[in-house]
Amino acid sequence: MQEPRHVAIMCQGEFYSEAAKYWDRIPPTVDGMLGGFGFISKTDIKGSIFFLKSLFELENPPSKLFALDCGAGIGRITKNLLLKFFKHVDLVEQNPKFLEVAKISLENCSSRIGQYYPIGLQNFCPTTSKYDLIWCQWVLGHLKDDDLIEFFRNCSLGLKDNGVLVVKENITTSNNIEIDKEDSSMTRPLINLRSLFEKADLICIKEQQQTKFPRGLYPVYMFALRPKRNQ
Ligand SMILES: C[S@@+](CC[C@H](N)C(=O)[O-])C[C@H]1O[C@@H](n2cnc3c(N)ncnc32)[C@H](O)[C@@H]1O
Repeated sequence: MQEPRHVAIMCQGEFYSEAAKYWDRIPPTVDGMLGGFGFISKTDIKGSIFFLKSLFELENPPSKLFALDCGAGIGRITKNLLLKFFKHVDLVEQNPKFLEVAKISLENCSSRIGQYYPIGLQNFCPTTSKYDLIWCQWVLGHLKDDDLIEFFRNCSLGLKDNGVLVVKENITTSNNIEIDKEDSSMTRPLINLRSLFEKADLICIKEQQQTKFPRGLYPVYMFALRPKRNQ
């Protein structure tokens, strides 16, 4: 499935700079992170906890030492999910204002935060295979297909042998990629996302739809992925 024409003709830089400009206008709050739907945060985290717990019951479960929060925003997921299970967490987030708020919000557990990486995911590559879990939520629509495949490959390199990459994203029901020009992002259908996993040599070991979100929102899916080399 090809990228929509609108995205394909936007030069690489423009697609990313428009998104950065959009997020710069957004307040550093949970409501800001969730597009005015801050009230779904608790339900979202509950669904994520349920999914994550199921990964610890796998035959070869991830360890609980180091996690990475990708597109971390103000650290909502680090604080409410990852630090509940992992000893240390790193955060990648391109918006400096959000990272500053994350630092304040995570002050009480600062000894358990490793690195704050102020960088776009399209330019990020873990330097060692240190992660037990890499969590990407509501950010991958900001990456163009080629960059997303490259990012997934980089994540594979950053995972320990029993590590897991989790993707939690909105999914279209139209079977088409839907573009949001306002925040310069795209929402992909399942078929497209699965094909990108495949191209990045990832295998989906578990998949689940988030429940109890209000009607009218995109369906949200969680995928647990492992590099083919570890299968
Ligand atoms: C919808 S918010 C989600 C934040 C967080 N994942 C959460 O669920 O609370 C999207 C986040 O992705 C960040 N973002 C957008 N494009 C990005 C990129 N190319 N690389 C890294 N972060 C990006 C934004 O700055 C924003 O913090």
